[in-house]
Amino acid sequence: MNISNRIMDMKFSEIRKLIPFANEAKEKGIKVYHLNIGQPDVETPEEFFKAVNNYKGKTLKYENSQGIMDLIETIVKYYKGIDIDFDKEDIYITNGASEGILFSLMTICDYGDEIIVPEPYYTNYNNIATLAGVNIKSFRTYREDGFHLKSKEDIVSIIGKNTKAILISNPGNPTGVVYSKEEVRLLADIAKEHNLYILADEVYREFIYDGLEYTSFMSMKDILDRVILIDSISKRYSACGARIGMIASKNKEVSHQFLKLCQSRLSVSTLDQVGATNLINVPKEYFTKVNKEYEKRRNILFEGLMSIPGISCEKPSGAFYIIVKLPVKESEHFAKWLLTDFTYHNKTVMITPAAGFYATNGLGKDEVRLSYCINSDDLKEALIILNKGLEEYNKIF
Ligand SMILES: Cc1ncc(COP(=O)(O)O)c(C=O)c1O
Repeated sequence: MNISNRIMDMKFSEIRKLIPFANEAKEKGIKVYHLNIGQPDVETPEEFFKAVNNYKGKTLKYENSQGIMDLIETIVKYYKGIDIDFDKEDIYITNGASEGILFSLMTICDYGDEIIVPEPYYTNYNNIATLAGVNIKSFRTYREDGFHLKSKEDIVSIIGKNTKAILISNPGNPTGVVYSKEEVRLLADIAKEHNLYILADEVYREFIYDGLEYTSFMSMKDILDRVILIDSISKRYSACGARIGMIASKNKEVSHQFLKLCQSRLSVSTLDQVGATNLINVPKEYFTKVNKEYEKRRNILFEGLMSIPGISCEKPSGAFYIIVKLPVKESEHFAKWLLTDFTYHNKTVMITPAAGFYATNGLGKDEVRLSYCINSDDLKEALIILNKGLEEYNKIF
């Protein structure tokens, strides 16, 4: 039977490729520290569960395709609190930011159109773009620069006649980069000069360290008709399983079209939307506390890494990821070996080879992406194991 070219063009997740080996290790009784995941270990605020438990409906009916109005109203309020002005009709609830990215691409691109993305980037962008029939072109950013934008020329040089948008995650996954106001301005100018949209993936907006100021693309008032904001409660409220995201645009022509896509999948889960609606009542201190915790973990991980011989990386300022160059030739081989052939006191670590985050063949082969979604004590232990693993691996290979 036929299998479509579209599905054959899609790839299985690079990030999840090593999971069977981790599972085998666990079955053997080995403790695996997960430095590979972007799933926060922080508890989802109780406000979410309270609202779900208090749900009085007797039937789980289809909700509005746009999303439950109470939820949209709370989102408008949330944005008001950070000086972003949206009307209710600008906002569409999606099944996570993931569906929001797909809907954005389908709304602004035709088959064969292109978007440009800084490399390395969140690997799921590839499959989502393939689903939408869109090609990704990437411009490089470098570990040595902390993955900040290199130059306007680099970016502009890959814009072609079919380029429709710049897709950018700020703060960045997998890099942890937080773009400065000047960088956001630069991309806004490029978008204006080349008639492009900005698909602003700001799902990590709250995860900013070192007292840095965060600049949303929504603060660039002269390009608001070009910005599609992609957002989610997954990371903000440690609610990845709720699958509540959203897309929003001040460009009414664009946002109105989102409705067709939302209608095509009828609606988003009622109970998840009900829970998400009550997240507006999470006290501000929640973010301060969570942020402090991640900043502490970032410091532990970064300092620990710096003390391991042969490792190089820059201190990231946001999200909860870091790209690290290891003293190995093939980080994928090393990552697998850690799970299949190595233990230290019956423990090991799981890391993500970084090559999957690069579009250019050959890049990232000696790099890994580490996340700091595990607690400080586990992080310290994981660093010891990683160090031991590198020592032993380099004796063998
Ligand atoms: C940059 C980025 N965008 C979007 C997503 C997807 O988020 P959601 O869980 O809301 O679909 C992720 C998830 O890791 C991400 O890292």
